[in-house]
Amino acid sequence: MRIGVAGVGRIGAFHAETLRDLDFVESVVLADALPNAASTVAQRLGVESVDNVDALLGAGIDGFVITTATPAHAALLRAGVAAGIPTFCEKPVAATLEESIELVQLEQQTDVPIHIGFQRRFDTGYRRAQQAVQSGELGFIHTIRATTGDQSPPHASYIPTSGGIFRDCNVHDFDILRFVTGREVATVYATGANKGADFFTEAGDVDTGAAVLTLDDDTMVVVTSTRYNGGGHDVRMEVCGSEGTIGVGLDDSLAMVSAQEGVTWPTGPQKWSFMERFLPAYQAELTAFADVAAGKIPSPCTVYDALQAFRVADACELSRREHRPVALAEIASA
Ligand SMILES: NC(=O)c1ccc[n+]([C@@H]2O[C@H](COP(=O)([O-])OP(=O)(O)OC[C@H]3O[C@@H](n4cnc5c(N)ncnc54)[C@H](O)[C@@H]3O)[C@@H](O)[C@H]2O)c1
Repeated sequence: MRIGVAGVGRIGAFHAETLRDLDFVESVVLADALPNAASTVAQRLGVESVDNVDALLGAGIDGFVITTATPAHAALLRAGVAAGIPTFCEKPVAATLEESIELVQLEQQTDVPIHIGFQRRFDTGYRRAQQAVQSGELGFIHTIRATTGDQSPPHASYIPTSGGIFRDCNVHDFDILRFVTGREVATVYATGANKGADFFTEAGDVDTGAAVLTLDDDTMVVVTSTRYNGGGHDVRMEVCGSEGTIGVGLDDSLAMVSAQEGVTWPTGPQKWSFMERFLPAYQAELTAFADVAAGKIPSPCTVYDALQAFRVADACELSRREHRPVALAEIASA
């Protein structure tokens, strides 16, 4: 297959490298809005580049991968679908709720496959947790704890267009929560604070967030996030049931040291970035996209799924700003 990648920043360059090394990919071609950005990355990776996204869509590609900054996602997804090219789009599917709803309508009207990039769905730990919930081995689920801690913040220019910590960071927790439990979020109560760089406050954002969610079967969920998890990149989920508890992300790379005397676990080394933590999941996700593009499997993460995670994030942002619980029913849907 020949795959086109639009946007060669942090995740775009990383996905381009992953795609280059996958067996099914014959060639990779890159484009970016910034002059020379695509050619510089292409040279480093030994792949092709073109001058802009229009040229990319006309470059005979079998799959279109959107890894631009979030505000460009909706228009490029429309362009990919209009060109009839199977399209993978990084999360979030769009910058706003309204655009996300419109894109669900597009998804319902087109036969062109669309796959949204929530890579945790391909992480073996989360898959095992999903199976444990579905099989009933944990009994009834009463409590879930989920966390996303970035070891250090992204660059300052990323924050103003990121959508805020719940839409940018915890949106992964919200998606995987739906995936693992098969339930929907009913209400949220969220808060946040900033003890780090001023650019978070200046963008109306926070660097650390927390939310209590209630699922539609009355499961209690506590979700936290921070951009300053100095001990390492920390992504975990604990699913607690009446018959047992299962933990995702609890291996020797756990970004924590034990305070217990004589305990040497975890032995390390820690992981420092989402790239390190989720490399196998990203590889599996992009491999699955090839099957989606070839029509072999349905989309493992639809625009509808992305909308539902976005609605939870929107509800958390509203709750944080207005200091009140928010019912998901208050947030528009498709
Ligand atoms: N799934 C994940 O784990 C994960 C991780 C990081 C980022 N992301 C998502 O990936 C996207 C990119 O994030 P990033 O950290 O790589 O950002 P970034 O700022 O490092 O890179 C974005 C790139 O997009 C380019 N760009 C912007 N508008 C464009 C347009 N209209 N056409 C072509 N190129 C354009 C920019 O020039 C830049 O090179 C974001 O939507 C983010 O939410 C997902």
